[in-house]
Amino acid sequence: MAVNCLTAMSHPTITSRGSEYRAIMARLNSGLRVAFGLSPSLPDSGTESWSGDDDYKVVVVSGSGTAAMEMIIANRFRPNDRVLVPTNGKFGERVAQICGSYCQVEHLNGEWGRTFDHEHMESLLSKGGFEAVLICHNETSSGITQDADAIAELCRKYSVALILDGITSVGGIEVELEKWSVEAAVVGAQKCTAGPSGIAAIAINNQFIDRCGEIRNSGQSNPAYYLDLQAALKKGADDQTPWTPAINASMGWAAALDNLRTEGLDERIARCALMANGVRNLFSDLGFELLADVEGRSDTVTAILYPEGIDDSWRKKLQDEYRTYVIGAQDHLKGKMFRIGSMGETPIPEMIEGCQRMLQCFRDCGHDLAKVDVESYFR
Ligand SMILES: Cc1ncc(COP(=O)(O)O)c(C=O)c1O
Repeated sequence: MAVNCLTAMSHPTITSRGSEYRAIMARLNSGLRVAFGLSPSLPDSGTESWSGDDDYKVVVVSGSGTAAMEMIIANRFRPNDRVLVPTNGKFGERVAQICGSYCQVEHLNGEWGRTFDHEHMESLLSKGGFEAVLICHNETSSGITQDADAIAELCRKYSVALILDGITSVGGIEVELEKWSVEAAVVGAQKCTAGPSGIAAIAINNQFIDRCGEIRNSGQSNPAYYLDLQAALKKGADDQTPWTPAINASMGWAAALDNLRTEGLDERIARCALMANGVRNLFSDLGFELLADVEGRSDTVTAILYPEGIDDSWRKKLQDEYRTYVIGAQDHLKGKMFRIGSMGETPIPEMIEGCQRMLQCFRDCGHDLAKVDVESYFR
């Protein structure tokens, strides 16, 4: 997290109902529109910084990415609506679980790291009866990015909505909401936008907004109060939130999004790709096995299997002796794999230094590795 984000958060907490907070919300919303790849907030839009001249609005959610995903699902579906959720990792499985709380879900529970079976998806969609396909666009648990282009085409062909968990793709990987006709997508602050945790946002199009309104008016909606979209829409047009927002977190996130704007979305996406490419090639050349199928490997997180004889004690040693933090794996892959993030504001020299320390720590653990010029992988 950058210094300006931390400094912004250390401001005394102000009221959320005054012009000072409205100005923060306007900065935050316009930064979010950059991250989502949307048209800019219009300078003459008054208090409507959530919109631009396209079909989308952004809505800030005080809660982590999971809350924002729940907000989308709870408001968009009726209890009897059917949705299709293909998964290849923990966070997709979570999307399916949230759907299970609010509607009828067909969960295509695939192996972690394998690409989706589009033919199977099509065979199900072609039978009709589905309201939407929901995907975890970038599956952080297994390091795979879904082929959203192809999935969007399927959704268009069978006239179903497409909804994205973009928590580790928005701001780090190409996300084309308009081109893919995505109805709703989520971004989490603490991932590709390098903001604080506990705050998230959704981007929603008019079709989504209209459908949620119809469902509410028909009296068939799921119960929602804190995450009620209608309440958020009423206040959003005034650069406000229905309940007290995460005030200091929004100050920090607005600052982090300023950094994204300064770097440029395309430049940030290119830096993430360069770092991920370097990590993939470096570890592959040294004989490590990557979990994700080659055609879907993510540019914001790389999942690498431990070689024979190495387990999570390597991560502990790396942390204790090299002051370097690497995330482990989840669920059934715990202790078998580690993951290297290449998102947010990580500078390339820091990634190079981190990789050098990781390799040295593997050698310390008795794993023989050839000498390589790490830096050359990141040019
Ligand atoms: C792709 C993805 N979806 C959802 C989540 C959950 O987000 P949060 O912990 O912010 O609720 C994460 C967190 O790592 C994630 O990477």
